[in-house]
Amino acid sequence: MTEIIDGNEIADRIKAELNVCVDTLGDHGVTPGLATVLMSDDGASETYVNMKQRACEEIGIEGRHHELDAEASSDTLEGRIEALNENPDVHGILVQMPVPDHVDEQTVLERIDPMKDVDGFHPENVGKLVTGEPRLKPCTPHGIQRLLAETGVETAGKDVAVVGRSNIVGKPMTNLLVQKRDLGNATVTTCHSRTDALAEKTKNADIVIAAAGVPELIDGSMLSEDTVVIDVGVNRVDVSERRLEDGQTPSDQSDTDKGYELVGDVEFESAKQKASAITPVPGGVGPLTIAMLLYNTVKAASLQEN
Ligand code: GUN
Repeated sequence: MTEIIDGNEIADRIKAELNVCVDTLGDHGVTPGLATVLMSDDGASETYVNMKQRACEEIGIEGRHHELDAEASSDTLEGRIEALNENPDVHGILVQMPVPDHVDEQTVLERIDPMKDVDGFHPENVGKLVTGEPRLKPCTPHGIQRLLAETGVETAGKDVAVVGRSNIVGKPMTNLLVQKRDLGNATVTTCHSRTDALAEKTKNADIVIAAAGVPELIDGSMLSEDTVVIDVGVNRVDVSERRLEDGQTPSDQSDTDKGYELVGDVEFESAKQKASAITPVPGGVGPLTIAMLLYNTVKAASLQEN
């Protein structure tokens, strides 16, 4: 039987642990604070930021949301980050990506105080991760590590195919998996859009982590029996373009009402036939990403207050 990994259930367990940490910090007069900054008209980005803010509320983190006009200057955004860097009530700062084209993403990330960098994207934190002394780890790869651990999936000695090389997921995932420490010690093949014979790499893997941002890139024919499949993709596909006449049903009614369906980077039905365990979309990796953002905010507050 294939295990359908319940990301919401694992995330709830992590949040319950964090709730205790928040209470302990409260006993010392500290309320962890997370500032989110949105500079975009993109509906999906707005939805993600709202979900992050709601999760903060759930466990007693003080969320403060900042919205900037998508037409505002880079200086305006950098000035806002500077003010948040200086604010002692703000322990974590997250600028939702992508930022508009006229703003340089890397410049923005480097403005954030590395101690408040709850995304783990600042070069100082990236460097610490790569050299094996992680401070604030990127949320999605860290969440996947926890998800594997909580599902009882060992990574040591395993072949892992990471499909995707983004700074947000693919590269840090690869780095965490090769670390000589718990939840690491894997042999990793990092695949991307220029990889030849992708199916050979995924078939050779004990664990496939799909994070390419390409709807249903990986299907069952590309997997060996008993593979663990982690689907990071969150692709909005227009419902009218889906093959509903094949008898397929949209997986999430609330999203189809909005005219789109959420589809992962994995073709779920065929992959499920091969996998020993698989994450669904939605309800797999997504909740873990948010849980680890809360984790980083609590950790950042502890580091700054000690
Ligand atoms: N956009 C998509 N994923 C992320 C993320 O993990 N952090 C930020 N800041 N922006 C994103």
